[in-house]
Amino acid sequence: MKNYILAIESSCDDSSIAIIDKDSFKCIFHQKISQEKEHSLYGGVVPELAARLHTKALTNILKECQVFFDKLCAIAVTNEPGLSVSLIGGISMAKILALSLHLPLIAVNHLKGHIYSLFLENKLKFDMGILLVSGGHTMNLKIDEKGFIHILSKTLDDSFGESFDKVAKMMNLGYPGGAIIESLAQKASKKDIHFSVPLLHSKGLDYSFSGLKNAVRLELLKYEQIDENLKSEIAFGFEECAISHILNKLEKIFAEHKFKSFGVVGGASANLKLRQKLMLLCEKYNCELLLAPLKYCSDNALMIARAACDSYEKKEFVRIEDDILSPKSKHFDRI
Ligand code: KG4
Ligand code: ZN
Repeated sequence: MKNYILAIESSCDDSSIAIIDKDSFKCIFHQKISQEKEHSLYGGVVPELAARLHTKALTNILKECQVFFDKLCAIAVTNEPGLSVSLIGGISMAKILALSLHLPLIAVNHLKGHIYSLFLENKLKFDMGILLVSGGHTMNLKIDEKGFIHILSKTLDDSFGESFDKVAKMMNLGYPGGAIIESLAQKASKKDIHFSVPLLHSKGLDYSFSGLKNAVRLELLKYEQIDENLKSEIAFGFEECAISHILNKLEKIFAEHKFKSFGVVGGASANLKLRQKLMLLCEKYNCELLLAPLKYCSDNALMIARAACDSYEKKEFVRIEDDILSPKSKHFDRI
């Protein structure tokens, strides 16, 4: 029986391919090659380098998938948003596979993919609230019972995850900064450095992380020498502030929306302090908290494959000759 979907993810600096059983959502194959080491030299993702590394990594992973080719019923690929030069590598591979294996092609929005990481083994259930925190995005969403996505708020400038990356870069700690800052903050013995929570007194629900990043930069300029203890203290103060900012706006959103369930997705949803605070918030509002498995919080092709299962069901295919990178094919309006 042909019931497997092969999905490719290459929107940023992770090359990943997954194969899923479209009926049971069981993972048949999943592999991801991360480019973190190569980009850490530069303190952030270098698009040209990412594109070249994808070409090599995706080809190597694809070789391992060949044994499943005769069971495939569709090819799926992340088409947006992301770095164009990185996306093109995955899209070209997906088109060639679809063409040569005579299979339908499914284009998956990366952000929808993150939402589907909550449903890797389960059917979807709506309505619900979502906090999406990644390197490129920070948003609060509501998905109504019909699956329509409503953006309740988003960042006005930088994202939550990117602010961790930049703070790590300022302290020469490597890339990506999320997990590094989180573990450094856990080691803080002194907790006397505090940063002002952004937009604390504004009624709006949007976020802003650029001022906080600048405040960390100015704090670092105060010292001639920055030892490990000081780095931990700054990491702690920064993380506390960034998470308080998220929670402060979410309190207002929860009070208004009475969600039955609430999910947190994206690479930065792996942050344990954020998870703990969300747990308390959901308890307070008697709302079920949905979390993706830690392994599938950051970019991966399995979440894209899971999203593609629903697209396959609805026969949402794209034509191989379509320019699926173009703004006309940007679909983030419904699940
Ligand atoms: O979703 P993702 O893998 O890529 C994008 O779609 O952007 O998210 C990566 C982002 C990076 O900015 C990374 O530093 C952040 O997620 N991140 C974290 C943690 N783990 C990853 N941020 C805070 N705490 C973490 N534990
Ligand atoms: Zn992502």
